Amino acid sequence: NKIVLAYSGGLDTSIILKWLKETYDAEIIAFTADIGQKEELDGLEAKALATGASKVYIDDLREEFAKDFIYPMFQAGAMYEGQYLLGTSIARPLIAKRMVEIARAEGAMAIAHGATGKGNDQVRFELAAAGLAPEIQVIAPWRLSEFRDRFPGRAEMIAYAEEHGIPVTASAAKSYSMDRNLLHISYESGVLEDPWYDASGEESKDMYLLSVSPEDAPDQPEYLELEFEQGNCVGLNGQRLDPLGVMEKLNELGGKHGIGRVDMVENRFVGMKSRGVYETPGGTILFTAHRKMESLTMDREVMNLRDSLITRYSTLVYNGFWFAPERLALQALVTESQKNVTGTVRVKLYKGNIIGAGVKSPVSLYNPDIATMEADPTEAYDQGDATGFIRLNALRLKVSSGVEQNNK
Ligand code: ARG
Ligand code: SIN
Repeated sequence: NKIVLAYSGGLDTSIILKWLKETYDAEIIAFTADIGQKEELDGLEAKALATGASKVYIDDLREEFAKDFIYPMFQAGAMYEGQYLLGTSIARPLIAKRMVEIARAEGAMAIAHGATGKGNDQVRFELAAAGLAPEIQVIAPWRLSEFRDRFPGRAEMIAYAEEHGIPVTASAAKSYSMDRNLLHISYESGVLEDPWYDASGEESKDMYLLSVSPEDAPDQPEYLELEFEQGNCVGLNGQRLDPLGVMEKLNELGGKHGIGRVDMVENRFVGMKSRGVYETPGGTILFTAHRKMESLTMDREVMNLRDSLITRYSTLVYNGFWFAPERLALQALVTESQKNVTGTVRVKLYKGNIIGAGVKSPVSLYNPDIATMEADPTEAYDQGDATGFIRLNALRLKVSSGVEQNNK
C-alpha cells in the first residue's frame, strides 16, 4: 500500500505525510520536484525520511520546466487578467506529470497533495493527473473533514508537529504563504488578505526574495540584448544559453533592477477573488522582449489571430487545462505563429522598467522604404490608392449614419 505525496518540506505537507501514514497505514513516498526553489530544498531528503517517508524522490526538473513549459507559454504571450505571468499555474502540470510517473513505477494506489480545497492548485494537480493517468486515485487531505477537524488551525498543526518530532521552521510562523520556482515567487494570505495593505512598503521589505524594490535599484541603467529564434530566447548579450540558463540570468538581472513585481486581486477558478503578490523578474523581461521581437517580425493578421486567443490560452493554463486537447490545439497555432519571430531585441533595465532600445532581425517585415515619409524608392505603395481604400471602408459608415439621421 503506497501513496506518493507531493512534498515541500513545509509544515502542511510534513503533517500530511505523517497523517497519511497513520490514517491509511500506507508507505509514503515523498516526491519533490526541483523546479528552482533553491534553498527550500536544503535538507529536504533527511527531513522527509525523519518525518516517516519510506522513500524520497527529489527530481531536478528545472530544464524540462524551462524548455517544455515556460518557453511554449511565453511564445503564446500568456498573461492572466492583464497582470499575472502564471508562474505557479504552469508548474503544477509538470509536478503532476512526474508524480503520476512515480506512482506508476512504484505501483502506488494513490497520489496526494497539500493544496487546500479553496484554491487553484488542487484543480491543476488533479486535472493534469486525470489527463495523464485516469486510473490513479487522488487524496487531498484538506478536503477531508476528518483532516480538517483534526487540524482546525495553525496551533493544532504546530502541536502535532512537535508531538511527532517534525521540526517546525521559521517559515511556519510567517504571516503569508509562498510558492517559489524558476519563474516566480507568489505570496498570498496572512497580512496580504487585506487588499488595502501596502505590500510595497517598508513593512514588507523582507518578504521579497528575488528582487529589490525599484527605489532601491541601481541609478545606472543596464543594457541587455536578447537573441530570439522562432519565438524562443536562445542567447543573452551574445552568449548562447539553454532555456534554464536564460531564465537564471534574466532573474538575476531583473531582480537587480527591481523588475517584475505585481500586486493584484485575481479571480480563482473556484469562484473567489484572492490577493496575490508576485515577483517575476526574468519572466517579465522575457515577456516584454518577446513582444518587441514580434512587433518587427510577425505578420499583422497572424498577430491579430494569436492575440485574440491569448485570453483563452491564459485561462486554460490558469485553470489547469495544460494537458487538455484544446490547449494543445492552441499551442500548435502558437508554434506556427512563431516561425518568423527571430532576431535581436535590446532593452535597457532601469528601476523597475524595461525600456526598448532597439530591435533587429534578418527576417524583419519592417521596410523603411515603404514606411518612409520621403519619396518611396520601391513604388510598392501609391498614396493615391488610399483614396479608394478609405472610400470603400467608409461606405457602410455613411449608410448607417444616413439611416440614423432619417430616423431622428
Ligand atoms: N494565485 C496564484 C495561482 O493561482 C498563486 C498560487 C500559489 N500557490 C501556493 N500554493 N502558494 O497561480
Ligand atoms: C492553495 O489553496 O493550496 C494555494 C492557493 C491556490 O491554490 O490557489
